[in-house]
Amino acid sequence: MAAADRIDGKAFAAGLREKVGEFAVSFEAVSGRKAGLAVVLVGEDPASQVYVRSKGKACAAANMESFEYKLADNTLREDLLALIAQLNADDAVDGILVQLPLPDHLDEQEVIASIDPDKDVDGFHVINAGRLSVGQTGFVPCTPLGCMMLLTDRLGDLSGLEAVVIGRSNIVGKPMAQLLVDANATVTIAHSRTADLQSVVKRADIVVAAVGRPEMIGKDWLKDGATVIDVGINRLPPEPGKEKGRLVGDVDFGGASEVAGAITPVPGGVGPMTIAVLLRNTMVAAHRNAGVALAEGAL
Ligand code: GUN
Repeated sequence: MAAADRIDGKAFAAGLREKVGEFAVSFEAVSGRKAGLAVVLVGEDPASQVYVRSKGKACAAANMESFEYKLADNTLREDLLALIAQLNADDAVDGILVQLPLPDHLDEQEVIASIDPDKDVDGFHVINAGRLSVGQTGFVPCTPLGCMMLLTDRLGDLSGLEAVVIGRSNIVGKPMAQLLVDANATVTIAHSRTADLQSVVKRADIVVAAVGRPEMIGKDWLKDGATVIDVGINRLPPEPGKEKGRLVGDVDFGGASEVAGAITPVPGGVGPMTIAVLLRNTMVAAHRNAGVALAEGAL
C-alpha cells in the first residue's frame, strides 16, 4: 500500500485563522469594537503558560482583543468566581477561557459552571454539553471540532462510515463521538476497559485516538485505507545527549502511514487546530453577543 496522505493540520489551521481574521475586521466595522477573548490562568504550570501566551498572540494576529488574567497559585475560590462574574458582565468580553488544569484547591466543575454558557468558547459548560447532545446551537469543544473539520475536509460525507474514538473524556472523546454520530457515522467509543481494543480499531474507517499513550496504536491495528486522527501529544524520554525527548502521538506514525489512507502528524496535525477553533468560536460568540448576523456554516 502506498504511503498515507499526511493531513496538514498546521496549514488548515492557518487558513482558518486567516478567515477568522477577515470576519474580525468586518465585525469591528459593523459593531464598532473588536471581538474579545478573556483568558484566565491560575498558577504557574509551564505548559499552561505557553498555551496562554500563544492564545494571546493568535488573537492579536486575527484582529481580536485578548484580555489575560494571571492569578497566583493560591487564589481563593471566591476571588476567581468574582473575576468570572465580572467577565460575564463585561460587554467587551465575548469569550471566556479558564485554562485547565486548575490548582487542586479549586473545583473545576464549579468554576466552569460559573462561566456564562454564551461566553463559554471552550464548550465545557454542562449547558453546552447538553446543547450538543440534543442538537441545539451552542459551543463545541475546540479539539473535537477541529478534528471534525479535518475529517470532513478529507472525506466529505461521513454517512455510514465506521468510526472508533479511543478515549472518553468530556473534553475530547465524548463530544467527538457526538459530532461523528451527528454526521451519520457509526460510532464506537473505546477506552481503557475495552476488550480486544485492537480488533475494535481494525474495523474502523475513521480512528480518532485520544488516550495519551505514546505510539500505542501500531500499523497492525488499522484497516487498510483508514483515516487516522491523532489527538495525542506525548513527550518521549530524551535520547542520549538530548535535553528533550521527541513529541509523538498515540499512533505510531511511521508504521501507520504504511497502512492508513490519511493520517495527522504530531506535531502539526490536530494541535494547531485547537487554537484556530478557539478563535473561530470566539468570533461566533462575538456575532451572537453583538446581534451581528453570521451565516450558518460561514466559519
Ligand atoms: N488545557 C489544555 N487544553 C485546554 C483547552 O483547550 N482549554 C482549556 N480551558 N484548558 C486547556
